[in-house]
Amino acid sequence: EAVELGGFESYMLKEIHEQPAALRATLAGLLGPEGEADTGAIGLPLREVRRVVVVACGTAYHAGLLGKAYIERLAGLPAEVSVASEYRYSEPVGDGDTLVVAISQSGETIDTLAAIQAARRFGGRVLAITNTRGSLITREADAVLLTSAGPEIGVAATKTFLAQIAALQALALALAAARKTLPEGELLRMGRGLRRLPERVEEAIGLAAPAARQAAALFESARCALFLGRGPAYPVALEGALKLKEISYVPAEGYPAGEMKHGPIALVDERCPVVAVLGEGLLREKTLSNVEETVARGAPVIAVAGTGDGDARRLSGLLLPVPEEGGLLGPYLWTVPLQLLAYHVARARGLDVDKPRNLAKSVTVE
Ligand code: G6P
Repeated sequence: EAVELGGFESYMLKEIHEQPAALRATLAGLLGPEGEADTGAIGLPLREVRRVVVVACGTAYHAGLLGKAYIERLAGLPAEVSVASEYRYSEPVGDGDTLVVAISQSGETIDTLAAIQAARRFGGRVLAITNTRGSLITREADAVLLTSAGPEIGVAATKTFLAQIAALQALALALAAARKTLPEGELLRMGRGLRRLPERVEEAIGLAAPAARQAAALFESARCALFLGRGPAYPVALEGALKLKEISYVPAEGYPAGEMKHGPIALVDERCPVVAVLGEGLLREKTLSNVEETVARGAPVIAVAGTGDGDARRLSGLLLPVPEEGGLLGPYLWTVPLQLLAYHVARARGLDVDKPRNLAKSVTVE
């Protein structure tokens, strides 16, 4: 085992550091050498798609929420995301022009497989995104996008989350190319940006590592934690909260920052740290003012923001710095410090980050 860990003290930490390589391998399979969208690689008639439904569980569901945003923004298609265990027992509506994207790292999650069956009943075409060649989902789907993150041993998903987002972004680019919703030059620019992603993530890991360790100290006597974000930062906040609760057992909620005043703000006090994923543009401004409300109520605030973000520094007790990079790459970079934060909180509590209690890597029973 020591050899497989390659000097890291856990699989989770090793897998966090493998993220640049996971992205490089995944993107190499999905984009051309110049970052061109590859409409053929998906093997489905993308021009006929009128609507997209994403089904998934856990971390893959959070990736799906980001996928919805990319597909709507780039390809102009209506997209929705459902938790697979809900979708399978709903009476889903659709037709042959509905593209059902089922995301599952293991490819064996029973609820996601059942959600595919439910979509089959209305004639939906199914695209699976999975990290496991030959898994059950690859046999159930009409087409497969492989994330090439390599085996993930830690129960809490890390590198496969980033790889799933990359696959969804490549899908959104391919849909946009097939539907001609964006000028070719623009698509190429985005594709090239994606190819630069592994280096940016590498940088994000280096930047966040010392700060995440420091931030973990703020959780020493935490009763709970709130993770806030808006727009694309919201799914990242959900994933950050999931990571923390999975491995450190600190009750944590991810919430849209603007919705906090409708309930969760009642939780806030000195023992409920607030982790704010600021994002960019107008939503960054809005999130900052939501976070001020929590500062006023005594919460220790940790902000995930660009290294040069003076407002975030002033407002928060601690900045988890991320490389300054806007546009489509933000969510990847904001995720990294939250993974490391959860990791250090759990380690400080003496917990086994790779094998959290009550959880399984793949859930093949209902
Ligand atoms: C389990 C794992 C999670 C994972 C979820 C979905 O709960 O512990 O890390 O996100 O299943 O798994 P899948 O293999 O379908 O992505």
